[in-house]
Amino acid sequence: MPKLLHLQVACAENRVIGRDGRLPWSIPEDMAFFHAQTAGQIVVLGRVCFETWPRVQQDGRRPVVVTRNAALAGGAVRTASSLAAALALAEALPGEIHICGGQRIYQETLALDRPMRLHLTLVHADVPGDTFFPEWRHLAWRELDRRESADANYRYTFFTLERS
Ligand SMILES: NC(=O)c1ccc[n+]([C@@H]2O[C@H](COP(=O)([O-])OP(=O)(O)OC[C@H]3O[C@@H](n4cnc5c(N)ncnc54)[C@H](OP(=O)(O)O)[C@@H]3O)[C@@H](O)[C@H]2O)c1
Repeated sequence: MPKLLHLQVACAENRVIGRDGRLPWSIPEDMAFFHAQTAGQIVVLGRVCFETWPRVQQDGRRPVVVTRNAALAGGAVRTASSLAAALALAEALPGEIHICGGQRIYQETLALDRPMRLHLTLVHADVPGDTFFPEWRHLAWRELDRRESADANYRYTFFTLERS
């Protein structure tokens, strides 16, 4: 039985997740949630996400970076040349598998026919950007939890959704 995949994403109503290689917002509560969720776990992420998260290895995270550049491997950092190879590597390690983007990694993960849990922070705004989360609303999710929150700039909802 393969491990449950945990997808971590913060997404605007118009599905934007990034702009110019960075997050298009600063939402401290969401960042703290993301860090707590992934601490001590395996994080599968694309090369740009890896390069823009210098402290990824803090709190015991073990990154598996999807990239053609195997030279990025070293220490606790592993590389894989495809999502399938990254998941095979992650399956053999202890701990949960958290999929942390970007766009193509999310697309390929959502297309997989296996159990997954989506930890979605839905930011209630249309935000300009160049990187998107795939449409997820038509898929057969079961809602496990939701919690609404806000800061001075945004209203957002933390959803936990699962499909088997
Ligand atoms: N809001 C959120 O929750 C969230 C989450 C994640 C990312 N983001 C945002 O999204 C942007 C980064 O994401 P991105 O989509 O541009 O880049 P990315 O996925 O982090 O990195 C793209 C690179 O990863 C490798 N790669 C990705 N998918 C692959 C696949 N399926 N097979 C083989 N290689 C693959 C390739 O690396 P090589 O070129 O090295 O071969 C590709 O050039 C940033 O703006 C970031 O802030 C936001």
